[in-house]
Amino acid sequence: MTLIFGIETSCDETAAAVVEDGERMLSNVVASQIDLHAQYGGVFPEVASRAHIEAISHVARQALDDAGVTLDALDAIAVTRGPGLAGSLLVGVNFAKGLALGRDLPLVGVNHLEGHVYSLWLTGREAPVRFPVVCLIVSGGHSEIVLIEGHGQYTLLGSTIDDAAGEAFDKVARLLGLSYPGGPVIERVAREGDPQAYSFPRALHGEGYDFSFSGLKTAVLRAVQPPQEGRRLPKNEGMTPDQLAPGVNVADVAASFQAAVVDVLVEKTVGAAGEHGATEIWMAGGVSANTALRGAMSAASPLPVRYPPLKLCVDNAAMIASAGYFRFRAGYRDDLAMDVRPMWPLVSVAEVMARPVAP
Ligand code: KG4
Ligand code: ZN
Repeated sequence: MTLIFGIETSCDETAAAVVEDGERMLSNVVASQIDLHAQYGGVFPEVASRAHIEAISHVARQALDDAGVTLDALDAIAVTRGPGLAGSLLVGVNFAKGLALGRDLPLVGVNHLEGHVYSLWLTGREAPVRFPVVCLIVSGGHSEIVLIEGHGQYTLLGSTIDDAAGEAFDKVARLLGLSYPGGPVIERVAREGDPQAYSFPRALHGEGYDFSFSGLKTAVLRAVQPPQEGRRLPKNEGMTPDQLAPGVNVADVAASFQAAVVDVLVEKTVGAAGEHGATEIWMAGGVSANTALRGAMSAASPLPVRYPPLKLCVDNAAMIASAGYFRFRAGYRDDLAMDVRPMWPLVSVAEVMARPVAP
């Protein structure tokens, strides 16, 4: 039995978890900072790192208590090393180093996106995974289609060339005068709307597996902004409902926007899975919580579609501990000089072990 302590502070969740053998979650504690960032309509980096510093010791203690273990029982510390906000990552990485040094425990740096992939290992599968699998990772910072041919063996098939899917949800929510984070609120409002009321663009349709969402965001702006307001995108302040053009039905805009995002994510993921002989389609990351996306993917895919339960879609440390377990098992270790990698792409573990990657 191998117990991994996972730590995650890449964005606005301070999280710690204990996972046994990469699959059994003994605890999973997440302290969300959403309330602190709501006023900015997005994550404010300086506020995030301070809040991580305040929360991390309590969150870590709680994760050990919930699991009913002490530090002595642990086999290794896994921590998110990147990608993410540098100041936030540093809090988790330095905390993890402190534990590793103090208890003489191995340290394993984990790629946050790899963590999202491993949230699928914590769902209590009834049968072992048959590779290859295609995973759509969609969050506030990422939209990627990844081919997984084994533990730690990834090939990036496509990614966004501008905004991430979750970022598009957040920005469009701001345009519509809705609250942050935008995904859940757009999903809720969209239930009352007509997804065909507006024909928003499906960018890069039929052109490989990359995504683009910034044109869609601009199209939504044009649809809701009164003509005399000009075409400039409002920055952080967004719009208030009374600034929208007369006659705009927010539910219809939300439903049509969501339909455009979902169409593109589904078309590309199903295409990639077919081309690469995947046995299953997986979805991970905050946007995979979206029920319209889940439903459309399941309806369009000839393959089984899997996604984590809601609490594992959003950032958490159990997924980091699970990914860390499989890296640990493969012999991967980091030393105490490990730095953070704010722009770290998801590459295969073999590649990481063979040569250091650039920050
Ligand atoms: O994975 P996550 O918690 O953090 C990042 O690593 O970014 O994802 C957060 C993102 C936010 O942009 C949020 O708006 C989006 O996931 N999100 C959703 C839903 N729930 C969260 N987007 C669409 N529909 C949802 N139900
Ligand atoms: Zn994430």
